[in-house]
Amino acid sequence: MRAQLATTLDNLGTDYLDIYFLHSSDFGPDDRYLPDAVDLMSKWRSQGVIRAVGMRAPHQFAEEWATADGPEGAETRRWLYLFDRVRPDVVTARYNLISRLYGDHETDIFRFARRNGVGILIKQVFGKGLLLQSGSGPDQRQYSAADHRSTDPAFTPDHRHRVDARLAPLRDRYGHSTSAMVRLCVQYALHHAPDAAILAGFRNANQIDAIIAALDHPLLADDITQIRAVLHGNPYTD
Ligand SMILES: NC(=O)c1ccc[n+]([C@@H]2O[C@H](COP(=O)([O-])OP(=O)(O)OC[C@H]3O[C@@H](n4cnc5c(N)ncnc54)[C@H](OP(=O)(O)O)[C@@H]3O)[C@@H](O)[C@H]2O)c1
Repeated sequence: MRAQLATTLDNLGTDYLDIYFLHSSDFGPDDRYLPDAVDLMSKWRSQGVIRAVGMRAPHQFAEEWATADGPEGAETRRWLYLFDRVRPDVVTARYNLISRLYGDHETDIFRFARRNGVGILIKQVFGKGLLLQSGSGPDQRQYSAADHRSTDPAFTPDHRHRVDARLAPLRDRYGHSTSAMVRLCVQYALHHAPDAAILAGFRNANQIDAIIAALDHPLLADDITQIRAVLHGNPYTD
């Protein structure tokens, strides 16, 4: 961890990080390295080398699942255990148009974070770009072997085609341009969690411009209701 932090600071040409994210949940046999890792992050934070500790949340999470049998319950219990040990300042959560919806009886990651006084950084608002391939046809985009999406099952031509078809009614309603879909993605997430920050990925200046422009055009509650009805067949009651 020390060597990696030093390399990161060097690569970025900075002497501190706003957020230090703990991605791994593997701390060796019997979590042998967990206490030292937690102590080290705490020390860095008090020294100001990092300003906050972050931790990734499971892609799907409801606190109540912790009492369930099976892999979902085990994953939830493990994550809650680590959360209690690490006590992060921020968690990252995947949230986008096609994310699972949670019922009022479920404590999703957003409710959980609020209750614990922890910030949320939303990632994958564009589904790593999957949600922005509007109408381009399933086979047009090729990913190089160096791009992690080349082996991601969500990016097989078949799955891309299915997502494309699912989003078609939204394009008919909100516009066929990529900017229109960027706006939907960004504002759908911000509407759900106005107290969260979005970590939006971009590849070039045009993409940044589209993301910034999207911030000026919020969605209304009625839009969210309709988007959810189209994509999930589920009315929105926030
Ligand atoms: N997902 C994770 O678990 C994770 C973990 C650690 C760090 N990160 C970092 O977090 C950032 C966000 O990544 P993410 O995985 O959450 O992905 P994301 O933000 O859902 O999607 C980012 C992708 O969306 C596409 N995009 C963005 N704006 C666009 C526009 N205006 N027009 C067309 N395409 C546009 C780009 O795809 P193209 O590349 O195809 O142009 C971009 O790479 C990235 O810097 C990533 O490295 C992510």
